[in-house]
Amino acid sequence: MKFNNTLFGNLPDGREARLFTIETTSGLTISISNYGAAITSVIMPDRQGHLEEITAGFPSLEGYLKDHPYFGVITGRFANRIANAQFSINEKKYRLPANSGPSHLHGGPQGFHTKLWDYAISEKPGSVSIHLTYTSPHLEMGYPGNLKAVVSYTVFENNVLQIEFEAQTDAPTHVNLTNHAYFNLSGFRDNVFAHKLFVDADHYLDLDEKQIPTGKILPCAGTTFDYQALNENMSFVREPVDHCFVLKTNRSQDQPAAMLFHPGSGRMLKVFCTQPGIQIYTGNFLDGSFIGHKGLAYGQHQAICLETQHFPDSPNHPGFPSTLLKPGEVYRQTSKFVFETL
Ligand code: GLA
Repeated sequence: MKFNNTLFGNLPDGREARLFTIETTSGLTISISNYGAAITSVIMPDRQGHLEEITAGFPSLEGYLKDHPYFGVITGRFANRIANAQFSINEKKYRLPANSGPSHLHGGPQGFHTKLWDYAISEKPGSVSIHLTYTSPHLEMGYPGNLKAVVSYTVFENNVLQIEFEAQTDAPTHVNLTNHAYFNLSGFRDNVFAHKLFVDADHYLDLDEKQIPTGKILPCAGTTFDYQALNENMSFVREPVDHCFVLKTNRSQDQPAAMLFHPGSGRMLKVFCTQPGIQIYTGNFLDGSFIGHKGLAYGQHQAICLETQHFPDSPNHPGFPSTLLKPGEVYRQTSKFVFETL
């Protein structure tokens, strides 16, 4: 494996953002920055061995310093939406910035995607890990508690990217971290509808007109949300999606939560996770206004996100798996992205 630690760019206040690039011997190259704890690039071969960029991102720090559709970043303190930008803990109400209409989205305008994370590297035979740490102070973006978050990216020689999420707090708070990478396994030659999708879920969360869960958990069977077919029966992405799927609770950890396959290139991405949900988002709000790798304009439905997470608006839904973290507890989740060429 090859590992590089280079200067990605300087923040306005002069601090350096680094870019860590890890290459496996079979040609998977993953780049991660400690700014936004972002996956900035994933390059992998197709079945003919052609290397192509398969993720939306920017070639330099500059693009990440402005507002962008969360390309590759870690979103937090709470990924996805929180209704009316507020929640209560022990009858005390906390108000958050409303940065998506009336809702709070992805930790707010100064969420974890806008932070420079401390880093530590560990290189072992067959793997390289980037341990990123950010401490979010009490009431940052309205959240109670000083929260220490640690996200460890590990790239293994066998083309596996493991993401370990950990957090601890000194006061009860809500936490729900995810990685928001946008993938296009065709190397952005085709759009999301040329990809096949599997999601190991027989239910999904009903949403209201503000994309907030109503609390109803609906069956996928017989609807356009049914992506349970495997192998040669795997379905192409049928239509735009922006929903949280409720992963089967009886899943074994060696069963992928989701799979994305591009028949034209033979590239396959398998996603494993410990989280109860996965948000599938087909880039519905992309509009070509963001220019990324190789001068590519990312247009609508040009990339797909598979965001492993707890359910959106969980702090306001006692019936959902809890995202409340108390002092003395450790928030711990793991996701794995396995890159294969068939
Ligand atoms: C998540 C949401 C989408 C959109 C993107 C960011 O995927 O589900 O509605 O807000 O984040 O653009």
